[in-house]
Amino acid sequence: MHAIPPGSTVAVIGSGAMGAGIAQVAATAGHQVLLFDTRPDAADKAILEIGKTYAKLVEKGRMGAVESDLARERLKRIASLHEAAGAVLVIEAIVEDLDAKRLLFAELEGIVGDRCILATNTSSISVTAIGAQLRRPERLVGMHFFNPVPLMALVEVISGLATSREVANVVHATAESWGKSPVHAKSTPGFIVNRVARPYYAEALRLLLEQAADVATLDAVMRDCGGFRMGPFELMDLIGHDVNFSVTNSVFAAYYNDPRFTPSILQQELVNAGFLGRKTGRGFYRYGDDAAKPAPQSEAPSQKPSALRHAGGLGAVDALAERLRGAGFDPVAIEAAPGLYCEGAAIHLTDGRSATERAEADGHRDTILFDLLLDPAGATRIALARADQCGDAAWQAAVGLFQSAGFAVTRLDDVPGMAVMRTVAMLANEAADAVNQGVCSARAVDIAMQKGVNYPRGPLAWADSMGLRQVVTVLANLAATYGEDRYRVSPLLRRKLASDPQGARFHAR
Ligand code: NAI
Repeated sequence: MHAIPPGSTVAVIGSGAMGAGIAQVAATAGHQVLLFDTRPDAADKAILEIGKTYAKLVEKGRMGAVESDLARERLKRIASLHEAAGAVLVIEAIVEDLDAKRLLFAELEGIVGDRCILATNTSSISVTAIGAQLRRPERLVGMHFFNPVPLMALVEVISGLATSREVANVVHATAESWGKSPVHAKSTPGFIVNRVARPYYAEALRLLLEQAADVATLDAVMRDCGGFRMGPFELMDLIGHDVNFSVTNSVFAAYYNDPRFTPSILQQELVNAGFLGRKTGRGFYRYGDDAAKPAPQSEAPSQKPSALRHAGGLGAVDALAERLRGAGFDPVAIEAAPGLYCEGAAIHLTDGRSATERAEADGHRDTILFDLLLDPAGATRIALARADQCGDAAWQAAVGLFQSAGFAVTRLDDVPGMAVMRTVAMLANEAADAVNQGVCSARAVDIAMQKGVNYPRGPLAWADSMGLRQVVTVLANLAATYGEDRYRVSPLLRRKLASDPQGARFHAR
C-alpha cells in the first residue's frame, strides 16, 4: 500500500504539544503542512517553535540548512478550516473530548475532498465512536503519536469498526515514510501501549503497598536488573500522578472493572494530597534544589564463599553460573532443582512463590530467590529475597557470592514473584491477551512497547526468551497465592504451551 505522496498537503488541526510535533514531522517529510487552531496565535507560535527546533538541528549537524529552510517554508497557518479543502490527510490533535472531535470531523467532511483521509490522534477515546456519526466513517482512522512526536518512533494506527483496511494501510505506509515505526491495532480501550503498560505501574504500586522495598530501591531494581530506562516510580512522577491515575481509571472503567487494571490506593492518596510528581515538586520523590535523591538499598560487603555447586537446566541460572565462573568460581555440577548452591544456601530464580513458601515446599530452610535479570552477564545489581526460615550464614554466603561477581546486592522483602519477574510476567500476559483478542499481532505489541515506552525488550520476545512455561508458572503461582483474578493466565499462553510443550514461542527463532 502506498503512502500519501511527498509534496501533498497534510492539515493538522490543533497546534498544541502534539499538533506542533506532528506538523514538524510531516513538514520534514516533505509535505505542505497547514496548521489550524481555535486559540489565537497558537498555530503561529507552533510554527515559530518548529523553526527554532529546525535551527537547533542545523546547529547540531542533524539537518541541512537548505533542507531546514524548505521544511520551514512548507508550514503555513490557516485561519479557517475551509483552507484545508485540498488536504489529502487531516490529522486532528485538539482537546481530548468526544463531542469536540465529532463536531470537528463533521465539519471537515463538508470541506475536504472525497479521497481525503481523516485521522485522530486521540489517546483514549474510541475511534469507532469518533467516526460513528460521519457520512463516511470508513475514512476515519486513529493515528496515535507519542510525546514528544519528533523523538518517539511509535505510531499506533487504530482501526474503528467502520475504518476501511485500505485507509489504515495508507496511514501505516505514510507513518513509515515519515521515519516512524507504525503498528496496526483495533480500537479498544488503551489501544496497545496504554493497556499493555498498565502492569509496569500497577505491580510496582502493589510491591510498594506490600512493603517489598522503598521506591528508590524498587526503581533501581527495575532499571539495573530489568534494564528499563526509568523505574516505575520516577516514571509516574514524570508523567504526573493526575494523568497516570486518570489513564488507569479510564482503562479500568472501560474494561468493566477487570481486576487486572485495578487502580492503586497509593496513587489515589498522592492525587488527594496534590503530590502530582515533578511538576508540583513532590510525588514519590521530592524535587527541587535541596532535595537529595534517596539511594537504593544495597547489602554491606560480605565474604566471598569458597565453593559453589550448580544444578543446570534453567537459562537464568546457567547464565549466572557462567558469570560466577568469570569471578573465579569453578562450580561443581550436581543433580538438583536448577539453582546455585553454596554454604547451605539454595539459590533459585523466583517462580512466583515467595522464598518462604518455596522453602517449605522444598523442605530446605536456607532458601534464597533471585529476581529476573535482563542481562545476567552485564547487570550491575541483583535482587535477592530470603525465606523467613533462612539462616544468616546462608544469606551472607549468597550476598558474598554475587558481590564477588560485581553485583550490588539488593534485598527485597519476601514478596511472591519479586519485582522484575512479576512485572515482566504480567506485561507478557497482557500482551498475550491483546493478541488473543485480535487487537494486534505479536510483532506489533513488541514494537509498540519498545518504541512507544522504550522497554528494553518486547514483552512477548521476553516471554519467548525465558520460556512460556516459566511465565505461566509465575502467573499461576501468583494467582494461587493472592487468590485474585488479576493474575489469571491468558488463554493464549496456555494454548501455545499445550500445542507445543517444549518449543512454544510467539516469534520464530
Ligand atoms: P494541547 O492542549 O497541548 O493542544 C490542543 C490544542 O488544540 C490547543 O492549542 C487548543 O487550542 C486546540 N483546540 C482545542 N479545540 C480545538 C478545535 N475545536 N479546533 C481547533 N483547535 C482546537 O493538547 P495535546 O497534548 O497536544 O493533545 C492533543 C490531542 O492529542 C489530545 O486528543 C490528546 O489526547 C492527544 N495525545 C496527547 C498526548 C500527550 O502526551 N500530550 C499523546 C498522544 C495523544
